[in-house]
Amino acid sequence: MRFAHVVGARPNFMKIAPIMSALREYANVEQSLVHTGQHYDAKMSRVFFDELRIPRPDIDLEIGSDRHGAQTGRMMIELERVLPELRPDCVVVVGDVNSTLAAALVAVKLGIPCAHVEAGLRSFDRSMPEEINRIVTDRVADVLLTPSADADHNLLEEGVPKAAIHRVGNVMIDTLLSHLERAKRRTTLEDLGVEPGSCALATLHRPSNVDDPVALESLLDTLEWIQERLPVILPVHPRTRKRLEEFSLLERTIAMPNLRLIEPLGYLDFLALTANAKLVLTDSGGLQEETTVLGIPCLTIRANTERPVTVSVGTNIVVGSDQEAIRHNIEEILEGRAKVGTIPDLWDGRASERAARVLVDYLTPG
Ligand code: UD1
Repeated sequence: MRFAHVVGARPNFMKIAPIMSALREYANVEQSLVHTGQHYDAKMSRVFFDELRIPRPDIDLEIGSDRHGAQTGRMMIELERVLPELRPDCVVVVGDVNSTLAAALVAVKLGIPCAHVEAGLRSFDRSMPEEINRIVTDRVADVLLTPSADADHNLLEEGVPKAAIHRVGNVMIDTLLSHLERAKRRTTLEDLGVEPGSCALATLHRPSNVDDPVALESLLDTLEWIQERLPVILPVHPRTRKRLEEFSLLERTIAMPNLRLIEPLGYLDFLALTANAKLVLTDSGGLQEETTVLGIPCLTIRANTERPVTVSVGTNIVVGSDQEAIRHNIEEILEGRAKVGTIPDLWDGRASERAARVLVDYLTPG
């Protein structure tokens, strides 16, 4: 049986790595990998392939950045051309980025079954591009592999047949657990001159936070306040750097004495920093999950989350962009009253093993 995996953006890579590795255990499975090129900078893409030992893509479409319609459309044109050449029995897509959506639509239109890993997550906020990608991908996919019970519930509510839903757990956590020791051996903290457990790690890249100058400036006010209390490390996403420059805010950011602006990090260095952070401030989806598993307090600078289990079970608090709420929660953490969480069910490092079993069973006649 032949699987074609399609990836494109940074958060896809840590999800596809353990799936491909679990499928490799099956003698009758052949796999190919297509990279759309949605992310193309070495620091956003190649480093993850190297560190996570993902095989080189069989096909790299090199689509690059563009507006959503143009980017997704160009991916679809190219995928429609290359997927039939790979003759897959099933196309596997992960997460919620534009590459996920493009590949799912093309696969089903070509009559190739599509499996979606990380299905069923919903923020119920249709202004988020990822929410549209999630809804449409789940609507057309044939096999829905979910990370948590809330995802099953969302899909059932939308009328998805129960037989199509398979709760396998969180595949990204497989990657985290299998690389944690390697990450801890890195000299990341020494290189940055920070003590374990002493700094805040911040990431910002959502359009709602960085594309609006008022929102971005207000976040800088918050970062300024935080860095007066503890060192802050901010690996800057290319989108965010572009906006800081465009809105003439880069100078101000660089001038904050206790805020370290650094380039995007590879998987291992970033994991080392997360695991040793005093707290994490983020608008990322994946980082909400990673901090929950690592037991690190996480404040999510968004109005909502598609990963509610990180709030109900884990260490995550959704604080929105309310400066007061952010400051209050940071004070709580610094005074030793951080939220304590546990690890959600099936986030145990074996989700991809279960996913591979489902995928192989799906293609096994009878
Ligand atoms: C995409 C995903 C988002 C995910 C994020 C992780 C969608 C709709 N969004 O957002 O869900 O959380 O990736 O990073 O799919 N750029 C570079 N180099 C690169 C990639 C991007 O410089 O390798 C710059 C370009 O200026 C580009 C901008 O970043 O216009 C945004 O890239 P894009 O892929 O459109 O969206 P992200 O914000 O990265």
